[in-house]
Amino acid sequence: MTVTAIIFDVGGVLAHPGAGQFPETFFGGQDKDSDHPWHRLERGELTMAQAMPLLDMPPGPARPPRPYTLDEEYLELAEQLAHAGFKLALCTNTPREAAPLWQALYPWAEVFDVIVRSCDVGARKPDVRMVGAALEKLGSPPAETLFVDDLPANRESAGTLGVTTVAGGGPDGIARIRELTGVGPDAPRKAVGPRGPRRPPVRDHGDRLLVDVLFEPEHMADPYPLLHELRETAPLHQLAGNPIWYATRYEDCRQVLRQPGFVKVTEYLALDFVTAEPVPPPPSGMVLPLAFIDPPEHTPVRRVMNSGFTRRRMDGLRPWLQGLATKIVGTALSGGPVDVVEAISYPLAMQVICDIVGVPEADRHDFRTLMRDASVIFEPGLPPQRTFEAVTAILEMTEYFTELGDAQDGLLRDLLHEARAAGDVSDDDVIANITFLFFAGFETVAHLISTTMFLMSTHPEQYALLAASPELAAQAAQEVSRFHSPVQTNSRIASHDLELAGTPIPAGNVVVTMLGAANRDPAAFPDPDRFDIARNGPPALAFGGGIHYCLGARLALLEATAVLESIVEAGIREIAQSQADWKHAIVLRGFEKLVLTFS
Ligand code: HEM
Repeated sequence: MTVTAIIFDVGGVLAHPGAGQFPETFFGGQDKDSDHPWHRLERGELTMAQAMPLLDMPPGPARPPRPYTLDEEYLELAEQLAHAGFKLALCTNTPREAAPLWQALYPWAEVFDVIVRSCDVGARKPDVRMVGAALEKLGSPPAETLFVDDLPANRESAGTLGVTTVAGGGPDGIARIRELTGVGPDAPRKAVGPRGPRRPPVRDHGDRLLVDVLFEPEHMADPYPLLHELRETAPLHQLAGNPIWYATRYEDCRQVLRQPGFVKVTEYLALDFVTAEPVPPPPSGMVLPLAFIDPPEHTPVRRVMNSGFTRRRMDGLRPWLQGLATKIVGTALSGGPVDVVEAISYPLAMQVICDIVGVPEADRHDFRTLMRDASVIFEPGLPPQRTFEAVTAILEMTEYFTELGDAQDGLLRDLLHEARAAGDVSDDDVIANITFLFFAGFETVAHLISTTMFLMSTHPEQYALLAASPELAAQAAQEVSRFHSPVQTNSRIASHDLELAGTPIPAGNVVVTMLGAANRDPAAFPDPDRFDIARNGPPALAFGGGIHYCLGARLALLEATAVLESIVEAGIREIAQSQADWKHAIVLRGFEKLVLTFS
């Protein structure tokens, strides 16, 4: 037989569920089509946001995200077939629900000429209409086409179209396809782009600048020249033509953060702000913290949380913070070159948040890994395994705090009591938000502290100024947060048709506020690339703005201030740098390793 095209089924052939469970397990057999919301979602009759509230998904970390793994042997074969000039199609039933989870693994479109999603044909998969659509899009005669699937029933129905079927999902399938196509095990493979988070296609110069800022390691340390160019040429840029706008001007970002029409949750699908794929929903039953909810729900919870972070309470912590910083900095500075990330930033950030909340010493050793795993959740385009680990870490911490309850002195107990007195905020709300502090207020603070020391090493004249005028320490910490914002981006969704700087933003579109770029906008900060610890000017957007303004901003700045004061007090005159590795991340920017010598 002459073969010109091969249609692959995704499940069981190229990507298959790993330790997690596939939704079919919960929602009925693949061959049973019904009005179940999951089935309607798959057929494209409901959006994710419409379907999710109707689904009764079992709770627990085994639920989405469901890790998929790649079948490397099938991938090798597919790349060889593509290189040999065969036309390839892929049929998938995971267009909405799990797309980001497996699609992020591999640049599928570089190997497969056609990808048929069940909702594209209004059918639940498996459905012979998908095979028909693949044949039509490939333009290949059925008699010259192979259909590869692990399930006999699917092969049987596809066979009615006249294609030759092959049992996939194992070595026999591979051998059979090689036999029918003449593509041997040593055949050359088509070269494909990097795996991992999928990069959006680059359409124009604005896309090029953004993709470089977001993904290229060489721009992690200094994305600002590219961001300046983007702000000047396309201050509100739609990445890859997707319904996602990147705002780089200070004033535009400020407006988005303050305007009530830009919200966190809408009836529209939440989109990953880089890949534009629908974001998988949080596990059912998970109470969402402040950063993921809008008024009216946000208001009473924020009120209770505010009571734990009043200016008075924070300022009352200053002597204690100073003592802690002096101790940690003193120990770290006693030797030669030191990785301050490990020796100062993480230990201080960890001890502060654990002490404040009331985590007993004995329980803390597990926390560092959980906190770091969890903070990855803010990054877009995550590979499935990382999402899975992040959600699992969050659930583990939530369980821990639920068990701890009000047993210990500290913020957790105070806030639980405050919530019970308020009456309209549940214990679960408090626990969700306490858990959130451990992934929003740990990695970020550690980055701020490391960056503070880094900038003192790269700007000796500014350090000299600080040493001569230690009262500038608090202002210096502010300037660090402007100059290298630890949170580079956040985002909102337009709840209805809106306008931003004269540009219409349709309902459901995402606006990404590029905080790092806004904080270098010359329209707000004259000579913005000058690091100046005595700078006065408008407040930077490092901690956001509007109703979601960072709850822990004052605490974070007090920690960085305490570190600066401790270094000055220790009599340090010079800070030399021997290694500075920026972390490769899109949202939370900071150092992986920073080796400094203090003398
Ligand atoms: C340098 C360190 C930090 C930075 C740069 C930072 C940055 C931010 C930003 C930009 C937001 C706004 C998110 C949005 O508008 O979508 C935010 C929100 C928040 N931050 Fe921070 N943060 C830091 C440290 C902390 C600390 C130490 C805590 C608490 C201990 C904390 C708790 C929160 C909370 C609870 C919210 C959500 C508030 C709401 O949505 O009402 N953060 N943070």
